[in-house]
Amino acid sequence: MRALVLVWSALLLVTATTHAEQELDIVIYGATGEVGSHAVHEALRRGHRVIAVSRNPAQVAMQHANLSVVEGNLLDTAGVARTVTGKDVVILSVRGVIGNSGKPESALQFIAAETLVDVLFPLGKNAPRLIHVGGSGSLEVEPGVLFAAKLPKILLSKDLEIEILGQILTLEFFRKVDDVNWTYVTPPMNFTNGPRTGVFRIGGDRALKDSRGRTRVSRADFAVALIDEAEQARHPRQRISVAY
Ligand SMILES: NC(=O)c1ccc[n+]([C@@H]2O[C@H](COP(=O)([O-])OP(=O)(O)OC[C@H]3O[C@@H](n4cnc5c(N)ncnc54)[C@H](OP(=O)(O)O)[C@@H]3O)[C@@H](O)[C@H]2O)c1
Repeated sequence: MRALVLVWSALLLVTATTHAEQELDIVIYGATGEVGSHAVHEALRRGHRVIAVSRNPAQVAMQHANLSVVEGNLLDTAGVARTVTGKDVVILSVRGVIGNSGKPESALQFIAAETLVDVLFPLGKNAPRLIHVGGSGSLEVEPGVLFAAKLPKILLSKDLEIEILGQILTLEFFRKVDDVNWTYVTPPMNFTNGPRTGVFRIGGDRALKDSRGRTRVSRADFAVALIDEAEQARHPRQRISVAY
């Protein structure tokens, strides 16, 4: 049994490190962020062309022949349309709260998802696919109970609470969208700074736990899952979760 697990692990590793057959143009919003920067590295190492978007492109120190850095703000719908039109995949890995309404609708993740759907829909068959980095608060920890409901609010900043609820709202929003090709990729409760192993599991609405009851994945491995989805489009209009 152990040998089987090892063979399976090795297979997963090989799959995850194989260079892409088709080079893609991948736009990454949040390229300067903790999660998005790993997606930039993962896409480049597989030979894709990356368009890294930042409100302040000078923040992107990295240089690579396949990397272009463009200025952009998700609150500028016309600018988003210019940036994503003609590309293959858009990855949204952003966070923030806009204004002070205190409502989940003010989470940047939700605003960005709405904006992208508005921009992509008119592009029809030529629209890039949309991969949204979701929030673990939307995962079920027991039947009918979301992780968000278990979080002690007293320990959360107001903005983080808005983002958590905003990510749940974003998933509800996507689930009503059937004319744009989206995938909501959900991290586990804990991100680690661990290495890229290429070995992880893909689940659905339930939080995946490892043998010690932990729900975690490294940012580097989460990025592997993001770029796997960019290349393989295995989960159109679905929410998936990623964890060890
Ligand atoms: N366990 C979990 O569920 C969990 C944990 C962590 C993160 N996440 C999710 O992962 C995603 C990324 O989080 P992170 O921790 O990597 O974020 P981060 O490091 O704080 O980075 C945030 C990114 O958002 C971008 N951004 C902010 N406002 C923007 C705007 N108006 N237009 C365009 N880009 C904008 C920033 O880009 P510039 O400043 O360069 O413009 C930055 O790259 C989020 O969806 C977050 O909810 C989930």
